[in-house]
Amino acid sequence: MINIIIGAQWGDEGKGRVVDLLAADSDFVARYSGGDNAGHTVTVGKSIFKLHLVPSGIINSHVKCVIGNGVVINPKVLLNEMEMLKREGIEISPERILISYAAHIITPSHLALDKAREIARGRGKIGTTLRGIGPAYNDKVARSGIRMEAMLSQEEFADAIMVHTEKGNQQLEQIYKAPPLNPQEIAIQYSKYARELMPYIKNVSMILDKGLKEGRTVLAEGAQGTLLDLDHGTYPYVTSSTPTSPGVFSGLGIGLSHLGRVIGVTKAFQTRVGEGPFPTEIFGGKAERFRGTGSNPWDEFGTTTGRPRRVGWLDGVLLSYAIRINGLTELAITKLDILSGIKKLKLCNSYRYKDDIVNDLPLGPADLTPFDPVYETIPGWEQDLSSIKNWEELPIEAQQYIRAIEHIAGIPVTIISVGPEREQVILRNI
Ligand code: GDP
Ligand code: IMO
Ligand code: MG
Repeated sequence: MINIIIGAQWGDEGKGRVVDLLAADSDFVARYSGGDNAGHTVTVGKSIFKLHLVPSGIINSHVKCVIGNGVVINPKVLLNEMEMLKREGIEISPERILISYAAHIITPSHLALDKAREIARGRGKIGTTLRGIGPAYNDKVARSGIRMEAMLSQEEFADAIMVHTEKGNQQLEQIYKAPPLNPQEIAIQYSKYARELMPYIKNVSMILDKGLKEGRTVLAEGAQGTLLDLDHGTYPYVTSSTPTSPGVFSGLGIGLSHLGRVIGVTKAFQTRVGEGPFPTEIFGGKAERFRGTGSNPWDEFGTTTGRPRRVGWLDGVLLSYAIRINGLTELAITKLDILSGIKKLKLCNSYRYKDDIVNDLPLGPADLTPFDPVYETIPGWEQDLSSIKNWEELPIEAQQYIRAIEHIAGIPVTIISVGPEREQVILRNI
């Protein structure tokens, strides 16, 4: 069976934390889209792991971790992350990490082009993570990318990297007036990465299919979030891949027949990092209440870039949209603990559009300017939730808040996270 974890917002919903939890009952954990623009945090006791490419299942020693063909891989970042995990005493081997031969490679040219294009966009910039993600997917779609399988033929790989860098230089110099890169140096560097990564390159589609047929459980780990999806997100303020559930099947090379749970992860409020629309955004002192000041590891500062995240009230219209686009079967709500002490909670349950009240978006979420959020107000609670383990122990107001979300969503909230640690969670069997 394949269970899927999807970000239901603009990323950073706490997917890594939920994946770590469900990895305990999974045989494989597989990333199917995005690259090291992702930053997934897993907290186990005193250790805080910030994972960008290695799937968050890695902390569970029985799990095999898969990086699917839908992912774009910066080999330097991947190797550094593998080293970091080894230093933490985690087994890293070709038996545990399986990389698709068809995943595309991120190069220094992609990084330089990402930066040059953001500068060229000026005030219209997307606010990318500058990890070379867009340019790498650009090359993939243009059928000029370099895939992991190229690493298996050393000499040809070095040549391909050189030619690719020269082509990148033409764009950097001619279009963006940016300095060129050194093709020879990069080819040498990438040949070294190839030697190190070669044993990990596999046909993961075949391996997963075999596992699924033998009754194994695969957990697909979404990166980014529904509203950052290239097709279904707040275009053009999106990433360049398919983080929504259909991306799982094309991004891993598996069929549709083994589908199990499709779990959407949402914070108890809303955040976004980077540019783009955000109808329920709040500012000033109130925003700091959600964001924190950076003194806690879970405060709202980007895991990958350190940028302060924009924050706001939970947007039920966009949540319902995510449920529709992904076919979510249930929700995991994270950071409910952060709402303790707020006297009155606001929950956006619809939008005002001209003279109407709407619950969906006639033209999708790209242009949200004509919509004004309509809020219901729910009383808050004072208690600290961080050590609560059962639904019954939650303050009645917190239960009411979750029920109000379920009412909007039309699907059950089965996982409630009240802290970053593995055990800080309430599981509901409904
Ligand atoms: P991801 O990209 O979806 O995996 O999310 P990130 O790791 O980028 O951001 C989520 C942040 O919230 C991390 O710092 C997590 O440790 C933290 N976190 C996750 N769940 C909870 C929770 O229930 N309460 C608190 N306080 N922090 C949480
Ligand atoms: P995780 O997996 C939050 C955002 C960037 C930017 C836009 C495009 O940790 O949830 P890109 O570098 O992908 O071209 O940037 O997408 N973005 C994320 N925001 N969490 C992420 O990943 C993100 N990955 C990309 O901030 O707005
Ligand atoms: Mg993140």
